[in-house]
Amino acid sequence: MGRLDDRVAIVTGGGRGIGQATSLRLASDGAAIVVNDIDDAPANETVKLISEAGGRAIACVANTVDLAEAERLTKAAVDEFGKLDILVNNAGTTRDKMFHGLDDATFDFVLDANLRTGFHSTLAAMPYMREAAKAEMAAAGAPAYNRKIVFTSSVAALMGNRGQFNYSAAKGAIISVVRTLAMELGPFSINVNAVAPGFVETRLTAAKEADSVHGIPEEMRQMAKMMISLGRLGQPADIAAVTSFLVSTDSDFVSGVTIPVAGGQLGAM
Ligand SMILES: NC(=O)c1ccc[n+]([C@@H]2O[C@H](COP(=O)([O-])OP(=O)(O)OC[C@H]3O[C@@H](n4cnc5c(N)ncnc54)[C@H](O)[C@@H]3O)[C@@H](O)[C@H]2O)c1
Repeated sequence: MGRLDDRVAIVTGGGRGIGQATSLRLASDGAAIVVNDIDDAPANETVKLISEAGGRAIACVANTVDLAEAERLTKAAVDEFGKLDILVNNAGTTRDKMFHGLDDATFDFVLDANLRTGFHSTLAAMPYMREAAKAEMAAAGAPAYNRKIVFTSSVAALMGNRGQFNYSAAKGAIISVVRTLAMELGPFSINVNAVAPGFVETRLTAAKEADSVHGIPEEMRQMAKMMISLGRLGQPADIAAVTSFLVSTDSDFVSGVTIPVAGGQLGAM
């Protein structure tokens, strides 16, 4: 028995890093997973890992910056598994630039990738999550169980971060929209929360290579470690464990909050 038996979940950006670890964790908790990513090879790899471990998953390649793509994603979950209970808005990325050199295209790209993706995926989930709860309320007086939405913020929003005006704008907005959505969706027993990862080892935080759009300078990696009270960098599974809690019945009375998962990083509390 897993704590997510019979639940159906979408994880956006599930092909790599934190999204992959979250897909694997929720699958091992018993949920059927729709692994979304813009890149098909990583999405299929996550599905393969879940299947090999005995779980249920399908891939859905979609860029949810586009609402029609987000609608295709949520429909895929319902077509394949019959319903949608859990949405993990994990997709996101960085394009770091010091503020004085920031241009509109880079600002818009990061706002789209980190904020509009979650906006559209959540909007596209409403017919299946809010309407399903509403139908249960009409039939039985209350939703049958709590449905769950988890967004992904960042300590960059809580503390600020050099070179991340665009990213901290998007991740800060997530803290606010989670509060607003929790108010609107609470009456339908839909919990809305966020995780705010600290420094987690993925391609976003790998040592920057000259030709890569991802990654950060090695000195920043060393500095990050010194700021983490628990004395180690975060791993994707550390974030997945907290998301697992936030989508389980154990958190049925938790809504509207952003939980820092940052190893006690100074300033992120
Ligand atoms: N790694 C960290 O230290 C850290 C810290 C704070 C927050 N985060 C956040 O955690 C989330 C996951 O980051 P990660 O470190 O695992 O990065 P990652 O680059 O390893 O994985 C992100 C995945 O999202 C996918 N993706 C990007 N844009 C997408 C879109 N528009 N539609 C669908 N998929 C898309 C990518 O293809 C990739 O597979 C992001 O929202 C990121 O901002 C990461």
